[in-house]
Amino acid sequence: MTEGKEEIKSRIETLRQEINRHNRLYYQEDAPEISDAEYDRLFHELKELEAAHPELITPESPTQRVGAEPVEKFTPVEHPVPMLSLDNGFNPEDVLEFDKRVKRFFNSTEDISYMVEPKIDGVAVALVYEAGQLVSASTRGNGYVGEDVTGNIKTILTVPLTLTPNKDKPFPDRLDVRGEVYMPLEDFAQLNQRQESKGLAPFANPRNAAAGSLRQLDPRITATRPLNMFCYAVARPELLEVDTQFELLKLLTGWGMRAYNPEAEVCESIQEVLKFYNELEQRRHELPYEVDGLVIKVNSISLQNRLGTTTRSPRWALAFKFAPEVETTVVKAIEVQVGRTGALTPVAHMEPVQVSGVMVSRATLHNEDEVKRKDVRVGDTVIIQRAGDVIPEVVRVIQEERPENTIPFSMPETCPVCGSGVVRLSGEAVHRCVNAACPAQIKQHLFHFASKDALDIDGLGSKLIDLLVDQDMVHDPADLYSLTLEKLADLPRMAEKSAQNLLNALEGSKKTTLERFIFALGIRHVGVHLARILAENYGALEPLLETDAKELEAIYEIGPEVAQSIVTFMTNLKNRDLIQRLTEEKIGITLSPPVKSDTGSPLSGKSLVLTGTLKTMTREEAKARIQSAGGRVAGSVSKKTDYVVGGENPGKKMTQAEELNVKILSEEDFLKILEE
Ligand code: IVH
Repeated sequence: MTEGKEEIKSRIETLRQEINRHNRLYYQEDAPEISDAEYDRLFHELKELEAAHPELITPESPTQRVGAEPVEKFTPVEHPVPMLSLDNGFNPEDVLEFDKRVKRFFNSTEDISYMVEPKIDGVAVALVYEAGQLVSASTRGNGYVGEDVTGNIKTILTVPLTLTPNKDKPFPDRLDVRGEVYMPLEDFAQLNQRQESKGLAPFANPRNAAAGSLRQLDPRITATRPLNMFCYAVARPELLEVDTQFELLKLLTGWGMRAYNPEAEVCESIQEVLKFYNELEQRRHELPYEVDGLVIKVNSISLQNRLGTTTRSPRWALAFKFAPEVETTVVKAIEVQVGRTGALTPVAHMEPVQVSGVMVSRATLHNEDEVKRKDVRVGDTVIIQRAGDVIPEVVRVIQEERPENTIPFSMPETCPVCGSGVVRLSGEAVHRCVNAACPAQIKQHLFHFASKDALDIDGLGSKLIDLLVDQDMVHDPADLYSLTLEKLADLPRMAEKSAQNLLNALEGSKKTTLERFIFALGIRHVGVHLARILAENYGALEPLLETDAKELEAIYEIGPEVAQSIVTFMTNLKNRDLIQRLTEEKIGITLSPPVKSDTGSPLSGKSLVLTGTLKTMTREEAKARIQSAGGRVAGSVSKKTDYVVGGENPGKKMTQAEELNVKILSEEDFLKILEE
């Protein structure tokens, strides 16, 4: 006799409740009532029932949290609104300066209300809810594109798979939530014990453990890792009709998200923020998770919007970092490394020592002046520090502990890799190897070219690059594309399968985007972010090859030094030749232009010049609002200017605009367009 549908339904319901209760007991209360085997039996029974009656599967079922199949590779996910990072402050002066900046922006002296939240040291994640269902979760990646980790995020029990409806405040059709995935300290300690008892390497710190657990291809492994998450932001808060960050967190909490951190607080002035910082720093190590500082956010959402963001970080927030942890150790050697641009960097090799949870054995000494200023010598006992993601550095030498007969450090006169001459140009702090064909430079260049944010050539790591360059098979990125199975087969320890994989990856890399390609070229000062700006402004490679400093400097974010570096790169014949070889038919790299992010505003994609004084807002605010509308602010009027905004007492830019027939907007016109 088959069981009746109702009975099955009710058994499924009971199992779900039981499993959820045991999950909570195990993960949150650390007080399991049943053995793992018993838990597995319950889980298995539920799975079987659901498999036989798929119509009864609901997104909230615990099986849906660990139901995802392993993936082969993480799929890229584009963030509709970039995931920004935060500006950092390291002392009260930085914080007061931030507060002043905010007030100056509004030309106001009134106290600003701030929401202050602990800055949990974990991994930033974006969640997307559609019609209240969790449909996607991704890592921050480079801020624009992250990796799809939906199956893994679903295993985190405090992340709702469906939102709780709220009659007064229905959730929008699409909600983009951002937050931090982390591993609680106690769970981290237990996980490491388990790792070690299995003979596996322990994780260096909770953040690495969280990141490693989240980036598992098999969600079933992630499910065994005690991750948790706090949500702290949404992509477009102005669409939710809340007045403050505090209310936003309450709203998210009401929808079932873990958004309200009890350690967070609203401070009514910057003085209160400083007080709160001191209190929290005292209690820092009593918190159940690792914090590396505070995040200070302007509480009012409308002020946040008026302040807007630079392309890198919001103007309305600051990360106030706790003092970095310091340790002492002994310098065993000072090695000089050669980078992609030929820059020589002295690096101290030290007795390994644990600093803020991470084993450190190398620290940068930056350049000759820095080594001289600190007078770091081999044999010295030094104080080193490490703050967050920052590369460890030597703070100072403990002079009293210097052994006898140490020798002051000096930069080598020849390149430690290729033996060519080394120069230090006037005005520069670094020494450079003059040989553009220096193997160290070539290797670094290839490594950069193949890296994830550049052409993303899977399987081309530093070991293989070393081999290819040392065997004289590859001299520049274009040479990579003439590698064949036969040639690769000659390399030691190269299996045919990995050779074929590499060739496939190379083939795949030929279809790429303009911004990736620009980044891959390795132009000095041009990171992921500027590469994107250049791609958006030029739309193709050709006009960028013919650009000049003046045109570049008209782009809001580019100053004289960066403009010069780009022009120098683009006019260099070797670089032009490389670009040509990469893009002409034989190799045939094709570049898709960036999708213009259209903000829907009439200013989107337009270039504006400001002149004179505006009555209703500061110059800073005018610039910020043009940028948030998708426009660009240029410093000088040219044929490419779309509008000149004229305030009171305009300067000679007004006459230039008239001469060049550029449309002139009064302040009133400008305000109207901003509203559209
Ligand atoms: S706000 C636009 N709030 O800190 C808002 N970030 O570089 C950007 N973080 O990548 C972030 N706790 O992973 C914010 N309460 C908090 C945070 C927080 C930790 C992390 C986040 C971000 C990094 C800032």
